[in-house]
Amino acid sequence: MKLVFAVAAALLPALALAANHFKGLTAANAVGGKNAYTCRTQAQWNTLVHDAKNAGFSSIRIEGFDCNALDLASSAAASVGLQVMAGIYVNGNIAQGTAGINNDVQTFITAYKKYGAGRYIGLTVGNEVNDSAANIMKKVYDVRGYLRSVGVSTPVSTAHTWVFVRDHPEMCGADFGAANAHAFFDPNTASSGAGNFLLSVVRPALDRACGKKVWYITESGWPSRGNKVNQAQPSIADETTALTQLNCAAKSMYVYAFEYDDQTWKGGAVEQSFGIFGKINLNNVLKAC
Ligand SMILES: *[C@@H]1O[C@H](CO)[C@@H](O)[C@H](O)[C@H]1NC(C)=O
Repeated sequence: MKLVFAVAAALLPALALAANHFKGLTAANAVGGKNAYTCRTQAQWNTLVHDAKNAGFSSIRIEGFDCNALDLASSAAASVGLQVMAGIYVNGNIAQGTAGINNDVQTFITAYKKYGAGRYIGLTVGNEVNDSAANIMKKVYDVRGYLRSVGVSTPVSTAHTWVFVRDHPEMCGADFGAANAHAFFDPNTASSGAGNFLLSVVRPALDRACGKKVWYITESGWPSRGNKVNQAQPSIADETTALTQLNCAAKSMYVYAFEYDDQTWKGGAVEQSFGIFGKINLNNVLKAC
């Protein structure tokens, strides 16, 4: 009996700690596994948030408002008590995308009034916009000023690659920092190093760039298909390993796992195959930390 208790006691801490440490889950507005871009329906968003909630995620991130996604995702999230990190997609550079941004800001205000301030962790204006940091941040500050003037208090920023943020610290000047960081695209990192890449390479760089500001890794994941690039091998086993490491790293930083499901409409096997649900055994991923 003593031995049984000792073994049980030894196991308890590990079991108690096994958990989802991600800040949230990034989701595309298109249904997974379709060769043509097909908007998710309300029912499909509802399934998505149930999957996310059951796996222990507390928020979802969207990266555009097409497909009526802000309203549908917010409605779904509200029904299960998840929060939303809302992202406005910018078509082209800031000048080319301005009309779309302004339209999406109105869409955001409508959702904010409908679902409440507490539903939204933040609003990012643009994801990896191909423009200068100065042009991007000018628009971010414009949007923030306008939202404040109409009583919307949601923190506002923009998301870019961690390398771009590292090299342009002014990208941290808004309410929070938001950087995408995929170890896979640092071809010298194998899947087993995906978490350490965030902890030892990305975090120090963002801390230097952003100072004490709160920042989020708004995308991090690993593909299951496509060509190997040096150390970066896509496979289901590697994706499982990388997500396991990322969940451990997420104990000490805000990380959004990328992404809910495979996006087969995208070009190239690597870009298509970052999907998690329906493919990866999350129980195996989450039990390590
Ligand atoms: C980014 O913008 C530059 C200058 O406008 C353009 O030449 C380049 O093709 C753009 N890159 C992408 C990936 O769209």
